Amino acid sequence: MAKNLVIVGAQWGDEGKGKIVDILTEHADIVVRFQGGNNAGHTVIVDGEKFIFHLIPSGILHPGKVCVIGDGVVVDPEVLIKEIDVLKAKGIFRPEDLLISKNAHLIMPYHKKLDVARERLRGENKIGTTGRGIGPAYEDKVARCGIKCGDLLSEEDFRAKLKANLMEKNHYLKNVLHEEGFEIHQIYHKYMTFGAAIAPHIRNTSKFLSDALNLKRNILFEGAQGTLLDIDHGTYPFVTSSNTVAGGACTGSGIGPSKIDAVIGISKAYATRVGEGPFPSELQGAEAERLREQGGEYGATTGRPRRCGWFDAVALRYAVRINGLDGLVITKLDVLDTLDTIKICTGYRYKGALLDDFATEASVLSKCEPVYEEFEGWKAPTNGIRKFDKLPAQAQKYIKRLEELSGVEVVIVSVGAGREDSIILKNLF
Ligand code: IMP
Repeated sequence: MAKNLVIVGAQWGDEGKGKIVDILTEHADIVVRFQGGNNAGHTVIVDGEKFIFHLIPSGILHPGKVCVIGDGVVVDPEVLIKEIDVLKAKGIFRPEDLLISKNAHLIMPYHKKLDVARERLRGENKIGTTGRGIGPAYEDKVARCGIKCGDLLSEEDFRAKLKANLMEKNHYLKNVLHEEGFEIHQIYHKYMTFGAAIAPHIRNTSKFLSDALNLKRNILFEGAQGTLLDIDHGTYPFVTSSNTVAGGACTGSGIGPSKIDAVIGISKAYATRVGEGPFPSELQGAEAERLREQGGEYGATTGRPRRCGWFDAVALRYAVRINGLDGLVITKLDVLDTLDTIKICTGYRYKGALLDDFATEASVLSKCEPVYEEFEGWKAPTNGIRKFDKLPAQAQKYIKRLEELSGVEVVIVSVGAGREDSIILKNLF
């Protein structure tokens, strides 16, 4: 029986999806990234060596498994080529293992400039984007003037689309944002060179996936960012510009929902957020600093310090609902090993009333006060543990409580950064 699993972030991103996708790839034939772009930074550590993937699916370290950059991804070809070059230099890139959808939209130099200039214009109200041009690239896709990876295969089409875009973009950049515009030749030749480099990988990937499904191949769908950053269901406007939730796996790869067997949510044992926007269980001062240092909570893409807080079970219940989660992976449990007490946010107090559902409106969420349940810490290392019943009793209690509060079973607990630092509670395949 084929198993096609969707892996999504259940929080604000940075849950450790890369590591989990890497582990699960052993049982899959194909791994598909379905949304986002190089705003993501998926970290995989194998035999002490660290890899950070921004665009290439996190299954690429398993030879013979096909990694697909799906239709819903926005691709900065310069970043992609650099990522391929790093793998080539290490002698672990097999060209036949990487496919790129012809429908995936390109991130253009003007997208990056627009992203950064707009953020500057927003001032205090900035979103805190990664500045990688993600929002403007998705805007063009929806405005029906975007340029796709497939367009790189036709010099004529690419040039015509670039010319039309530059007319509008230059006007906006110069007259509204007071930035310099672009000359067509600055972009054209560079992108044609990028096109030649990635052309062998560009395909009709939806057809490839459909054929693979008919052959009962196992497909892993790798989400980027997290549920609460979803453009429709996140804490708008402090979100990214794509559908990060499980539904995005279908639209972003061109396969039907009936082909998905299960959806697995990834959540850290505590919470973090990068960029602006409400975060009810956020900690300040020394408590936040301790989690940040212990958990190495600095952005894998931008290096920005992440905001840190207690586990938010209200947000998790929301993620369970929006994604239809069948299983939960708890990562970085070991980061809590030295704490005297640990808290879980089980509800919000808003204008004197208790809310038990997540509020996506930034104006409401920013005024929600967390209601906490407090746990005694286990104060013992969990890093080397490989079986759930060998975890300290308090750590087991903590995981069981997360299971109870979410109503979803925990299938993997991760207790360190390496591939091997995992407690597998249920075989998903
Ligand atoms: P953008 O995706 O660069 O437009 O950024 C929009 C928001 O999403 C900002 O708050 C970013 O910090 C956040 N964001 C984007 N990608 C990631 C990610 O991979 N992990 C965590 N936060 C992210």
